[in-house]
Amino acid sequence: MKTVPFLFFLSGALCALIGMGWGIKMSMSHDHVLSPAHAHLNLVGWVTLALFGTFYHLVPSAAETLLAKIHLALAVAGVVIMAPGIAIAISGGGEALAAIGSILTILSMLIFVFTVATRGRTA
Ligand code: HEM
Repeated sequence: MKTVPFLFFLSGALCALIGMGWGIKMSMSHDHVLSPAHAHLNLVGWVTLALFGTFYHLVPSAAETLLAKIHLALAVAGVVIMAPGIAIAISGGGEALAAIGSILTILSMLIFVFTVATRGRTA
């Protein structure tokens, strides 16, 4: 596996591990207030990053570009900022981090749409 899909999978798996641990903590404490943040860590982190990694593994030429590395950096930064940002927003600490993470996350998806549209058919 090339570096970009490997790092997408590694980042996604770490999100899953932390997200599941967070879920177990919520279950044990019977405090589900932060469940939207847990859900985003699992879905934008684990599921989305793993899907990106799958694409780059299936289309190795797409994984070798600078854009793929920018995509990786934006996608990982997006979830790392957004998930705690949602938790902070729910806790009344302001929405700035959630907003920044959301923008990085949608920019990463914009890159992915472009990448699939321009390189996906060559697979
Ligand atoms: C060890 C594994 C996990 C545990 C113990 C766990 C636990 C929980 C708990 C306690 C809630 C709150 C439920 C409620 O308040 O009704 C929740 C919500 C949720 N979880 Fe997990 N979870 C786990 C893994 C995952 C994974 C892998 C995903 C997605 C890939 C996921 C997605 C969600 C979603 C979408 C919600 C609903 C959030 C909301 O309604 O705001 N969870 N989870």
